[in-house]
Amino acid sequence: MSERVRDQYEAYPYPSRDPAEEARRLVVGSPSNLMEVNHYLYAGRRDFSRPFRALVAGGGTGDAAIMLAQQLSDAGQAGGRESGGGAAGGGEVVYLDLSQSSRAIAEARAVARGLTNLRFVTGSLLEAESLDLGVFDYIDCCGVLHHLADPAAGLAALSGLLKHDGGMGLMVYGTLGRNGVYPLQEMLRSLAGDRSLADQVALARRLLKTLPSSNLFARNPVLRDHSGSDAELVDLLLHSQDRAYLVEEVAALVEGAGLRLVSFIEPIRYDPATYVKDPVILKELSSLAPLERAAFAEKLAGNIKTHIFYASKNQIEDTVAAPVGRDAIPCLRVLEGPQLAKAVQRDLTLKGEFDGLSLQFALPRLAPAILPWVDGQTSLGRIQETLQDLDPRHDWASFKVQFDQLYGVLNGLNHLFIRYPLP
Ligand SMILES: C[S@@+](CC[C@H](N)C(=O)[O-])C[C@H]1O[C@@H](n2cnc3c(N)ncnc32)[C@H](O)[C@@H]1O
Repeated sequence: MSERVRDQYEAYPYPSRDPAEEARRLVVGSPSNLMEVNHYLYAGRRDFSRPFRALVAGGGTGDAAIMLAQQLSDAGQAGGRESGGGAAGGGEVVYLDLSQSSRAIAEARAVARGLTNLRFVTGSLLEAESLDLGVFDYIDCCGVLHHLADPAAGLAALSGLLKHDGGMGLMVYGTLGRNGVYPLQEMLRSLAGDRSLADQVALARRLLKTLPSSNLFARNPVLRDHSGSDAELVDLLLHSQDRAYLVEEVAALVEGAGLRLVSFIEPIRYDPATYVKDPVILKELSSLAPLERAAFAEKLAGNIKTHIFYASKNQIEDTVAAPVGRDAIPCLRVLEGPQLAKAVQRDLTLKGEFDGLSLQFALPRLAPAILPWVDGQTSLGRIQETLQDLDPRHDWASFKVQFDQLYGVLNGLNHLFIRYPLP
């Protein structure tokens, strides 16, 4: 374990969070949103009111641990109500981190929410086996592996804690989107590497103000994290240990740990067709394997600064939920169906901003009619029947063509997922 890394996170817990804010909002994000976990690792068929153990390895100030514990607790209560009350549910989340001060913030957030399904452990994920944590259905490891001297050893240690059908949600830095970070880190190290972190922060802020416009970091519009608190600046520019990955390197890391790479998030950013419209080039690209296409898209876009991805221990089955049958239930993660329908009804276009790149996506004609019915409870079959009652032309086959197009965009943007009813 690197003592410098631990000391950094003792002094600057990351990300900076105020437990008092829990009363106002739940921080949600990827990976580890339960809807995503179900979609990518359990084919949309996991009952989260049944026992579910999650480890958040390198939990920091608690974002993923709090989100998971809250969502599992909610799912447990819903499961309990459905079965007449009394179901245990709620799962268990184990938080693990080197940093005591980060843990203190995460613990205060759990107390503020009244969460009782979280256990806090201080230690290194590299020694997780000896900590007697048990085995897990799911492991979150977000923004941690790239800070280890040997990330492959870290992932192998975590993979060893997964159940045979378990999976992981991970994030590591992306090489191309971080263009300019490493020369600046080197400059800061040569300027003040032997000073206290507080002195380094002060000098870094001065240097940032004087960067010439030709400097690679100054020219990179994707990287603005340092403009927030000191903790964000330290994490980006004064880290004693970090590295970044290309798509191919992520794949090798995952495979080396005996895991299967399931999907990058957002999938649409890893598809060259998102950026290239030239039919000749698209035809050439169609012969590439999915991973080669993802690697091509990363180089083409040049702005991916973090790779978020899911990986499964299950090497045999496809663990991704597909919108195939009438019983599939479409679920929106944060957006509300009726509002989204209103927003897109005029020009059937969804616009988004992706790390400095504006993109827009065409939606099918039926999108504004389908979306108001997407409430996480109503099945595709039921939605189609409702639309056919209004217009007999909307039989299953024609509805499905339209839904699949809508799904391609919204799932690609990480908004829409599929779950199946529980037996
Ligand atoms: C950049 S922060 C990410 C925190 C959190 N996962 C998030 O995404 O908000 C990295 C965290 O990993 C922890 N860490 C680094 N090396 C570790 C190790 N070997 N074992 C456990 N935690 C570690 C640090 O203490 C720090 O809290």
